[in-house]
Amino acid sequence: MNEKELVAVHAVNLVKDGMLVGLGTGSTADLFIAELARRKIEQGLQVSTVASSVVSTIKAQALGLPMVSIEHLTRLDLYVDGADEVAPDNTLLKGQGADLVREKLLAKASDQFIVLVDQSKMVDRISARFPIPVEVMPFAWQLVKQRLEELGGQGELRKNGKGSGLAVSSHGSLVLDMVFPQILDSAQLNLILNAMPGVVEHGIFHDLASVVLLAVDGKVREITA
Ligand code: A5P
Repeated sequence: MNEKELVAVHAVNLVKDGMLVGLGTGSTADLFIAELARRKIEQGLQVSTVASSVVSTIKAQALGLPMVSIEHLTRLDLYVDGADEVAPDNTLLKGQGADLVREKLLAKASDQFIVLVDQSKMVDRISARFPIPVEVMPFAWQLVKQRLEELGGQGELRKNGKGSGLAVSSHGSLVLDMVFPQILDSAQLNLILNAMPGVVEHGIFHDLASVVLLAVDGKVREITA
């Protein structure tokens, strides 16, 4: 098993009968979805699932996982997702996909948010490797970009996969991918972005992860902040 498979299998073993489980998005979350479906089929594991994106919905449906719609939820037992970066205090950077709102809603509503990563995701500080996705209402993007530039931010609207147009989230928002060379404290940036009009959501997941599962030398390490 590679590192991603190891943490995915470890996480599925934490799922118990009767749980409502949130499904993340990305290659690591895909492995979790596949293993969860395998345990349902082969071992009769009883679970309901809710997906954090359209692509994960399609994957889970194709594998026969029972699904509920996010609008019917008030809470869930477990949310399992990958991340793009993990800082030493377990703050995450997420949102290379385009469903940040659902990802953060599920992370917040879950009793336990389990994050699955390999060693390439561990960083000294948030935005060490990736820009910070800032999801904006389409009519507000210029105002938000201007405000972020006044704070020293630099960035552009995210392009779609082909580069021929703009990336649009599943509910119609645009995404600014921003770097902030002068703001190194992600907790401070989290508060600034939370309070900014026109910002729908952003990729800093501060104080949300219950545990980060990281595979090192063939063993899974559980990292709590
Ligand atoms: C999706 O928006 C992101 O938050 C993902 O969790 C992230 O891109 C992880 O993807 P991989 O597991 O493919 O690295």
